[in-house]
Amino acid sequence: MPKILVIYDSRTGNTEKLAEAVAKGARKVSGVEVVLKKAREVTPKDLAEAAAYAFGSPSHFSIMSGEMLTMFTNIYPHRQEVAGKPACVFTTGAGSQVTALENMDRILGNFNPKWIKPGIAVDGTPKAKDLEQAEKLGEKLAKAATAE
Ligand SMILES: Cc1cc2nc3c(=O)[nH]c(=O)nc-3n(C[C@H](O)[C@H](O)[C@H](O)COP(=O)(O)O)c2cc1C
Repeated sequence: MPKILVIYDSRTGNTEKLAEAVAKGARKVSGVEVVLKKAREVTPKDLAEAAAYAFGSPSHFSIMSGEMLTMFTNIYPHRQEVAGKPACVFTTGAGSQVTALENMDRILGNFNPKWIKPGIAVDGTPKAKDLEQAEKLGEKLAKAATAE
């Protein structure tokens, strides 16, 4: 059963809400398992077992959070596990969420995923329309994983 791994960082819950919505959307696709993990909990085994990935970060100083960057740095030696598999990104911020999303795109690009775009950049606490968009992104990601 393809596993969809949603990796995120969140201090005050905004990005976590979006991560949960991406996971909810992915669960709409039958025959997939969806796992949510905080960035600091991700292991190389998690990466290897996953068929697709969603990465979510708050904007910190207009780029991804330190926790996310540390996670990407830690998994870089295992980048072949991610290469060619579907992946998407999402961010929240207080004005610089798009800049942070571009930063996520740039860093994740080093892992050569199969991009599922567009990503999502939300201003502040996700509203109903943002959660709906995140669910759609999760569903699209899971569909891409089952099509592999
Ligand atoms: C240390 C720190 C730095 C931040 N820097 C920015 C920033 O440069 N631009 C921005 O738009 N928001 C910035 N924010 C606000 C957060 O990105 C925003 O509140 C986000 O939604 C928080 O996500 P979370 O609830 O998942 O932690 C910063 C927050 C923190 C804690």
